[in-house]
Amino acid sequence: MIPFGDLARQYQIYKDEIDAAVAQVFNRGWYILGEKVEQFEIAFARYCGTQYAVGVGSGVDALHLSLVSLGVGAGDEVITVANTCVPTLSAVSLAGATPVLVDVDPATYTMDPQQIEQRITDRTRAILPVHIYGQCADMDPLLEIAQRRSLFVIEDCAQAHGATYKGKKAGSMGVTGCFSFYPSKNLGAMGDAGLVTTNDAKLAEKLKQLRNYGQEQRYYHSIKGFNSRLDELQAAVLLAKLPYLDSWNARRREIASIYNRGLADAKVVCPVEASDRWHNYHLYVIQVSNRERFQGQLRDLGVQTMIHYPVPIHRQEAYSETRDQVRYLAQTDMLSPQIVSLPIFPEMTNDEILSVVEAVRSVTG
Ligand SMILES: Cc1ncc(COP(=O)(O)O)c(C=O)c1O
Repeated sequence: MIPFGDLARQYQIYKDEIDAAVAQVFNRGWYILGEKVEQFEIAFARYCGTQYAVGVGSGVDALHLSLVSLGVGAGDEVITVANTCVPTLSAVSLAGATPVLVDVDPATYTMDPQQIEQRITDRTRAILPVHIYGQCADMDPLLEIAQRRSLFVIEDCAQAHGATYKGKKAGSMGVTGCFSFYPSKNLGAMGDAGLVTTNDAKLAEKLKQLRNYGQEQRYYHSIKGFNSRLDELQAAVLLAKLPYLDSWNARRREIASIYNRGLADAKVVCPVEASDRWHNYHLYVIQVSNRERFQGQLRDLGVQTMIHYPVPIHRQEAYSETRDQVRYLAQTDMLSPQIVSLPIFPEMTNDEILSVVEAVRSVTG
C-alpha cells in the first residue's frame, strides 16, 4: 500500500540528528520552556521574517491565545471559513467569541475576500483566514478591509510553513500567525506543539504570560492565563528539523508538479497555485465526481487517500449554531463532497509517485 504519509521514513533519515538533539535535553534535565524553546523561537521567527515567536502547546492554542491576547472574547464576532479543520473554530469557541463563516474561492479553496464586508457587524473584531492545504489566502484585500474597519487579522498557518504570498511568508502578514507542529505538518514535532509569530513586542510578552498561567515572574500572576507551554523535547526536535523544511517543501512541490503533469488530461480537477503565491503542498487536494467509488478503487490499487475535510464546519453537529449561515457557503458545499487528498510527503519514492498517477488515471478513465 502506498501510504498517505509515513513519518517513520523521515525519522530513519534524520535519526542521528534527532536522537542527539533529544539526548541533549535528557542530559540537561530541563524539560519545559528552556534554552531549546528560546532557540527555536528565534530560529522560527527569523524563518518567517517576524520579530518575535512564542512557542505554545499546539496549533489550536496558538489561535486561542492570539484571540485572548487581543482581547477578543464573549460578545465578539470572528470572521473565518467553513472549509477548515475544526480547531480553527475550537479556538474561536474557546475564546468565547462567535464564528461568522464566509465562503471560499473555488480555485484556491481559501477565504473569499468578496464576502467579508457584508458579514462585518459592530461586533466584528477579527478576520481569521486559513492558509488551507499550504496555500496562502488572498491577503491584500483582507488586510485592506481589516485596516479600514479596524479589525485584527489572525493567520491560521497550521498548514502553511514556508508558504508565501507576494513574497511574504505565511505568519508575517497578520497581527499574529498561528502555527501547528502536529507530527504530520510540513514541519512536525514528535507530539503536540504550536507557535505564534508577531511583530508586536507587547503582544509577544502577553502571549508568553498567557501560556504560563499569566505569570510575569515566577508565582506573580498579573493576568489569568493557561498552561500551554512548549516543551524542550519538542523544541529540540523542531530545531533539528527546521534546516530541512525548505528542501522538504521543494520536494513536495516537485511531487505536486509530477501529479499536475500526469493528471493534466485525467477527469479530475488538480489544485491551482495562484500566480502571486508559493504553495507548500501540505496537501494535494483534487476534485473527483464519485468520491466514494474513487477512494475504494484507489484502495484496491494500493493507494491510500484521505479527505480534508469531509464535513464543513456549518454541517458539524458541534457547530449546529452556524447551520443557518449555509446561504453564504455555496462554494464550500459544492466542493466538500468532491475533494480528496492524494499521498504527498517528501520521502515518497519516484516509483510511488508514478504509481499514484497511474492509479488515478486508470480509475478516472
Ligand atoms: C487549519 C488548521 N488549523 C488549526 C490546527 C490545529 O493544530 P493542532 O492540531 O496543533 O492544535 C490544524 C491542525 O490540526 C489545522 O490543520
